[in-house]
Amino acid sequence: MVRKGEPMRGLSEKNAVVTGASFGIGHATVKRLAEEGCNLFIIARTQSRLYELCQELRGDGAVVDFAPADFTKSDDIENAANIAIGFFSELGGIHILVNNAGTYEGKPFLELDTESWDYMLNLKLRSMFQISRIIGNDMVVSNRKGCSIVNMSSTNGLIGETDGAHYNAANGGAITLTKTMAIELGKHGIRVNAVCPGMIRTRITKPVWDNPDILNVWKKKLLLGRIGKPEEVAAAIAFLASEEASFITGECLVIDGGQLSH
Ligand SMILES: NC(=O)c1ccc[n+]([C@@H]2O[C@H](COP(=O)([O-])OP(=O)(O)OC[C@H]3O[C@@H](n4cnc5c(N)ncnc54)[C@H](OP(=O)(O)O)[C@@H]3O)[C@@H](O)[C@H]2O)c1
Repeated sequence: MVRKGEPMRGLSEKNAVVTGASFGIGHATVKRLAEEGCNLFIIARTQSRLYELCQELRGDGAVVDFAPADFTKSDDIENAANIAIGFFSELGGIHILVNNAGTYEGKPFLELDTESWDYMLNLKLRSMFQISRIIGNDMVVSNRKGCSIVNMSSTNGLIGETDGAHYNAANGGAITLTKTMAIELGKHGIRVNAVCPGMIRTRITKPVWDNPDILNVWKKKLLLGRIGKPEEVAAAIAFLASEEASFITGECLVIDGGQLSH
């Protein structure tokens, strides 16, 4: 389990909160941060997956706990954020917040209903704002050093793509939210960055990687000729959260195998 070679600078004994931690990119990020020596508080809806991950990481000696929460619900977000703050209060407080919770839904623009719009925007964007405000405030009030927030966006936040107006708008919003947070929190020493993954093999992209014809169309769009792995996004998130990225803020790191390069 212990990673061979040098660990990333400034992650050991940092306290990190990861949302959307039960599957996919969030799950991989938790494992990577734990390998780098972080203590963790993990959040998602599926309690059994969070429990299993906690047990696994505790077995490796990590300090870790979880709270189940539905991030379309304001009360759940506030509750989970406050439990996380309490959990880390005796350990030096939260240093890292990874806002990753989200989903994908494809729907043609003219068929897109306001319920779908609200669900997507609430889950991906409003939750990012809400938990960042609560935890960001805690970071500022305590004058904590070395704090960093990493927001999940997407290549869909940088370009339009058919059948996902609500998904694209939420991801575009995540980029401008990131830049605004970076401006306002920079004076407190808090760095705020976004990651923009392209096509990554997780639950939400199963219709692509599970269908050889669709997968081949995608492979042709990617300079590396393959789709990405959750661990490849987790590595970028860990980098942005670490002291290796100490002069990087307000940035969007694209992790897309070259999709947007042509
Ligand atoms: N995969 C890609 O190609 C790709 C590309 C760009 C961006 N992204 C973004 O990356 C993030 C992670 O997605 P993924 O690809 O890893 O998909 P995933 O495997 O389905 O993971 C999504 C995570 O978000 C959580 N989540 C979903 N709805 C939630 C809700 N209502 N409340 C709380 N947590 C919720 C899920 O946990 P529960 O179901 O247990 O709640 C899960 O842990 C998303 O924001 C997605 O938009 C993905």
